[in-house]
Amino acid sequence: MTTDPYRSTGQPERPELPGEAREQAPPPPGHSAPPIRGRSVPPAPPPPIEPSGGTTPSPASPTTRPMAEPAGPDATGSPQSVRAAAPSGRDDDLSDEDLRLAAEAQAGSDDWMSGPPPGKAEAFWPSFKRMLGLLTDFKPTLAVIALASIIAVVLSVAAPKVLGEATNVIFEGVLSSAMSGTTKEAAVAALEERGMGDMADMLRALDIRPGEGIDFVRLRGILLSVLALYVGAAFLNWLEGYLLNQITIKSLYRLRSQVEDKIHRLPLSYFDRMQRGELLSRLTNDVDNVTNTLQQSLSGALTSILTIVGVLGMMFSISWKLALVALIIVPLSGLVFGIIGPRSQRAFTRQWARTGRINTRVEESFSGHALVRVYGRTDWTRESFAQENEELYQAALKAQFLSGIMMPILMVIGNLSYVAIAVVGGAMVASGSLRLGDVQAFIQYSQQFSQPLSQLGGMATAVQSGTASAERIFELLDAEEETPDAGESAGGVPAGAPAGPGVIEVEHVRFSYSPDTELIRDLSLRVEPGHTVAIVGPTGAGKTTLVNLLMRFYEVDAGRILLDGRDTASMTRHDVRRRTGMVLQDPWLFEGTIRENIRYGRPGATDAEVEAAAQACFVDHIIKALPQGYDTVLEEDAANISAGERQLLTIARAFVAGPSVLILDEATSSVDTRTELLVQRAMNALRQGRTSFIIAHRLSTIRDADTILVMEHGDIVEQGSHDELLAAGGAYARLHASQFAEDA
Ligand SMILES: Nc1ncnc2c1ncn2[C@@H]1O[C@H](COP(=O)(O)OP(=O)(O)OP(=O)(O)O)[C@@H](O)[C@H]1O
Ligand SMILES: [Mg+2]
Repeated sequence: MTTDPYRSTGQPERPELPGEAREQAPPPPGHSAPPIRGRSVPPAPPPPIEPSGGTTPSPASPTTRPMAEPAGPDATGSPQSVRAAAPSGRDDDLSDEDLRLAAEAQAGSDDWMSGPPPGKAEAFWPSFKRMLGLLTDFKPTLAVIALASIIAVVLSVAAPKVLGEATNVIFEGVLSSAMSGTTKEAAVAALEERGMGDMADMLRALDIRPGEGIDFVRLRGILLSVLALYVGAAFLNWLEGYLLNQITIKSLYRLRSQVEDKIHRLPLSYFDRMQRGELLSRLTNDVDNVTNTLQQSLSGALTSILTIVGVLGMMFSISWKLALVALIIVPLSGLVFGIIGPRSQRAFTRQWARTGRINTRVEESFSGHALVRVYGRTDWTRESFAQENEELYQAALKAQFLSGIMMPILMVIGNLSYVAIAVVGGAMVASGSLRLGDVQAFIQYSQQFSQPLSQLGGMATAVQSGTASAERIFELLDAEEETPDAGESAGGVPAGAPAGPGVIEVEHVRFSYSPDTELIRDLSLRVEPGHTVAIVGPTGAGKTTLVNLLMRFYEVDAGRILLDGRDTASMTRHDVRRRTGMVLQDPWLFEGTIRENIRYGRPGATDAEVEAAAQACFVDHIIKALPQGYDTVLEEDAANISAGERQLLTIARAFVAGPSVLILDEATSSVDTRTELLVQRAMNALRQGRTSFIIAHRLSTIRDADTILVMEHGDIVEQGSHDELLAAGGAYARLHASQFAEDA
């Protein structure tokens, strides 16, 4: 392969695909990102000095270093792969933590998709096949794409050869005018006489009619057909990219809605096992990554392979000797990659790790800015930042040095091959075994050759990363769903059956989140309709868990929960939940106006109803004091109102829903005691025909409850009214005494 992607050849090259980034050759071995979407990642390190001239390579970064890459194994930044690629020895200073940070920093270095994120599929082939299967519905379009791409490659491979013909016409024309007055045979004989055998051979091989000059008609015809070839190839490339974008966008759309649908069918326990960020990333980044991979690998692979085959074919057809000369560069640059590549990769990993560290440090000191000041750690923060900054500086220097020497070496190799081709080709022209235009075409081919080779190398990484993403998505799609609701056919209760008075019975329920830690062993309970039940007990006692079971967020391991005498397991989840309003420990408010947030409880509620609910929860006057009143837009995390106000809003939301069962889980913990009491009282007023569960740590607010359950370690240890429990002198009495002492 020749090389030097920087050298401006002044020759037309294969036009660029819409979805393809040709300028960006793939990274050095083991380096993160091959080009996706034609963008480069500006990474932390500064760009090294670029060789001048020609096509502009993107800023040097771990992700963009032009040159072919032996399709190395995994070339990403994931902790596993980094570790795999970075054998011990020189990397002793990189801990697992560092590798994780490196992967994170790399993934977050730009918007995630500028390079394929780290990833290695566990079962590559099955996942890869299934990923391709996403496109099976688009077979006709795929066929058109393949056809367009084949024709485009043929056209662009043919062009240099035809252009070479133009050179021949000019060269021969110039010679012929110089020879006017003689015949070709006479000129050859004259040259041989003078001992210029080579020249004579060359002249003999040429198609020359002396005196005729340059055949401009023929020249114009050739140039026009070259133009047509390139225009045709450009159009087909555009068509290919356009169609490909269409189908990948469609399949992306489909995949995303599949994932979204699936998420609603997954049981809550799935979300416990999965980190929220990871789930989000599957929904967004992984889907994107799969699409990009499909886009890339489909158009890219086909075009690249065809181009390589076509160009190689043309090179050998022009001259096999010259082709062999051109191919010498392949093992040579392979050697350079083999030696410098791994070292450079390790250096980059270290650089990313340091970048990750600094990011974490900066994040910490900003988000904890107040605390940094409170504890007087400003100097310490500054010092440790300075130290880490220094380490990043050193790491970046080294990485840049290594990657910086790679290009020049490769360029020298490339130029050597260029010179070799020129010398050998020139000799062949002189000896008449090759025409000048053919050498010119050959040089152009040798340039065309390295590009797809590099692209294939980069693609290997992209495909791997995309397959890993696809695997994660498939894993989600395959995850076990909630047990389907028992329908009527299964002997269940018809959906929407009229609700009874609302007696809740819990019979010998056993439950634990994970098999190895037992939580609720044997819990029984009966709640009369309209009662207010308070659940108290130490942190971690299982209060929230009990509520989760009542709502059927989790399925009991043993025992039953009956609603009006019917096993909730035989009802649809919707039926269980539709009469229940719930206010959770952490208030959940979305970005939107206060009015919208309250109305979320019942979309049909009128403005008057929304305001009435707010009044009942004593948040009305607070809202009205805001400049925009009910139309105040809550920021993300509702950071613009106080914690207590957030809670009151969520209670108002539950009020608006008008549920027959109301569950308040520590819903008023951030509200002052007076407001809390008022809210309780408002609820008491609303309580007719309504069963409420109130979980509270402040006993003063629940003394009016009909029943107080004291939970400890997943068991109900005491049960009764406030007075009864005080009289009993048990756990509740002790709890009460301690709070009373505090309050006093
Ligand atoms: N989703 C979960 N997965 C696994 N374990 C959990 C889960 N939720 C809670 N637990 C564990 O179950 C136990 C009971 O938790 P629960 O949330 O019911 O406590 P709680 O009584 O509501 O406490 P608090 O007063 O702090 O709200 C705790 O030990 C907790 O660590
Ligand atoms: Mg709780």
